[in-house]
Amino acid sequence: GENKLSLTPPMGWNSWNVWAGKVDKKKVEDAADQMIASGLAAHGYSYINVDDTWEAGRDDQGNILSNEKFPDMPGLSAYIHDKGLKFGIYSSPGPKTCADFTGSYQHDDKDAATYAAWGVDYLKYDWCSYGEIVKDDHSIAADMKPYQIMGSALGKVNRDILYSLCQYGMGDVWKWGADPSINGNCWRTTGDITDNWGSLKSIFESQPGHEKYAGPGHWNDPDMLMVGIVGFGNTHPTGLKPNEQILHVSMWSLLAAPLLIGCDMTKLDPFTLALLANDEMIDIDQDPLGKGASLIIKKDGKQVWVRPLFDGTKAVGLVNTGSAPQTVTVKWADLGIKGAQPVRDIWLHKNVGTLKGSYSVEVPAHGCVMLKIGTAKKV
Ligand code: DGJ
Repeated sequence: GENKLSLTPPMGWNSWNVWAGKVDKKKVEDAADQMIASGLAAHGYSYINVDDTWEAGRDDQGNILSNEKFPDMPGLSAYIHDKGLKFGIYSSPGPKTCADFTGSYQHDDKDAATYAAWGVDYLKYDWCSYGEIVKDDHSIAADMKPYQIMGSALGKVNRDILYSLCQYGMGDVWKWGADPSINGNCWRTTGDITDNWGSLKSIFESQPGHEKYAGPGHWNDPDMLMVGIVGFGNTHPTGLKPNEQILHVSMWSLLAAPLLIGCDMTKLDPFTLALLANDEMIDIDQDPLGKGASLIIKKDGKQVWVRPLFDGTKAVGLVNTGSAPQTVTVKWADLGIKGAQPVRDIWLHKNVGTLKGSYSVEVPAHGCVMLKIGTAKKV
């Protein structure tokens, strides 16, 4: 059926990038508290998502149990909902999750019913050990099957649960993740992000072409944000430099990607908060037209990305992947616009001017200047 969830990309927090296996109830409650206290909830971040390592085995009836780190899942769900936030959970279609905890294999209906009873609003469904089930079958039908099984299980429960497919971009998932037999709301387009420039660059450079498959209710997901204190349980500040973090957040917004904060919410520094709370960046990510950016120029370490917006203006990313500053130019002819056009800088929060023909600006090494160009139509 028609999918009315996530008409704009989901925004929130996920436990994995900072805590990995060290996540527990207290850390998730702290994240929810800080989502409110930091003000980020008021900017639109709403999901508080528990990733892998919460699962214990099953009871005699086959119902999934949570382990000692999560003694009361319905209680945690209520804690999160009482703050006006939403509760996300994680499983795998395989017998085991990636971290070797209990998966949902042959228990999809039961698990979907449990999640609904717990008040779950978001499920990340991670391929992991499902490879043992499909063995050497690398067909698209084999890639789709476990997501169809859980998709139909979620369709049977009386609760809206956002469905996040996590299978690392296999079998061109962007081409079928939204198929009515699955109804995925987002799908990972890549393997796991790590907090270094090489990982970030390879992820955003692999996205061109996927944009035509995403739209309201079904999004490309290039993985979670690596800003702030991260480190998979062995926590440390992100290895991305400040300009790389600006590029990271700019690109995710231009790509219409989920904005899932991956850091320790109790240690948000002013820089990280300013990155995440920039409403002009968020408005572009959440633009109701739901079209992701296309890469229109890639030459000599310079890239120009263009995202059409609902009001007729364009969001533009001027990217420098080189190791020294360089000037990057966007030409109106490449945007399909003419004449004098207003240009606004999204990170400087400043109108650059009303310019004819083109705009050129020096972009720092591994940086991005994010712009909004054009006159808004009355809508
Ligand atoms: C692989 C996923 O891609 C990660 O985001 C995370 O969920 C881990 N599995 C958990 O084991």
